[in-house]
Amino acid sequence: MEKIISGIQQMGIGIPNVHEAFDFYRRAFGVDVKVFEEAAEAGLMLPYTGNQPQSRHAILAMNLQGGGGFEIWQYVGRTPQPPKFNVKLGDLGIYICKIKSPDVAKAFKDFKAKGLNVISDLETAPNGKPHFYMKDPYNNIFEIVEGIRKACGKSFLIGVRLSPERFGMDLNEIKILAQNLIDSNLIDFLDISLWDCFKMPEDLKYHDKTLLDHFIGLNFKDVKLTVAGKISSGHDVHKILKNKVDFVTIGRSAILHHDFPKRVIENPNFKPEPLPVSKSYLKKEGLSNSFIEYMNRWPNFVQN
Ligand SMILES: Cc1cc2nc3c(=O)[nH]c(=O)nc-3n(C[C@H](O)[C@H](O)[C@H](O)COP(=O)(O)O)c2cc1C
Repeated sequence: MEKIISGIQQMGIGIPNVHEAFDFYRRAFGVDVKVFEEAAEAGLMLPYTGNQPQSRHAILAMNLQGGGGFEIWQYVGRTPQPPKFNVKLGDLGIYICKIKSPDVAKAFKDFKAKGLNVISDLETAPNGKPHFYMKDPYNNIFEIVEGIRKACGKSFLIGVRLSPERFGMDLNEIKILAQNLIDSNLIDFLDISLWDCFKMPEDLKYHDKTLLDHFIGLNFKDVKLTVAGKISSGHDVHKILKNKVDFVTIGRSAILHHDFPKRVIENPNFKPEPLPVSKSYLKKEGLSNSFIEYMNRWPNFVQN
């Protein structure tokens, strides 16, 4: 089967000086959220570095408005080398990063005003949409293209899922991020992955209200709110929907019942099959063998 790459989580960019490059990308592309900074041997890259561990200093940076991360990567075990030839279209490899912008014409003006190395005019691409190219100080080329909203049209729903706590997240920071996303006017809904919609926050300093109430208190304007986490029965669905949540996101109960929404609409007191369930039951609900094996890793879900 032909494989189509439709998204890359982050773009690794090899540069000679990680801090200088981070400053540049922050100024040029607004990637001002530092997800990590680490100087270490890149053990996971061994298959790509001829099985020789390479020391590197890397910063992963993101733009608050979303998209993939910039993994800004400096070799420290040896002096980073650019290619010995001029990279041309058709050479093997990824040689142009695409950056999505909500307004390409505005970005073009802004880049010029900032004195960035814009190497094309603002042009119409073969797909009929505006685009332009720029080069960073290290000869990497970036193409600025229309963002997801313009590319997909008004009827395409755009949502962002956020994990509000644990995994190194601070609840207050995620609330600020959520409000920024709402204010950006770029999304239709926010999906907050609470893991348990009925619980208090993990962090004691936020125990003035429930985890859900922390988010309900934001000013959602026209943006819809959905939450996930232990919404398993008809009773749970109705309880959450009464709480200014616009729609519910169902994980495990929808795996147990492929027609979960229909069942809850028909019977507000609907209760899901008690756990654990047999493999043959899951097969009947439409799960493939590999999905059943995957669910087997979840505690108390599959009966063995
Ligand atoms: C099989 C499975 C895969 C999941 N994969 C993801 C994922 O890739 N990203 C994510 O944010 N949450 C993922 N989740 C979490 C669910 O979206 C949901 O937040 C979580 O299961 C809590 O809801 P529930 O109690 O209704 O299952 C996954 C859950 C399950 C059961």
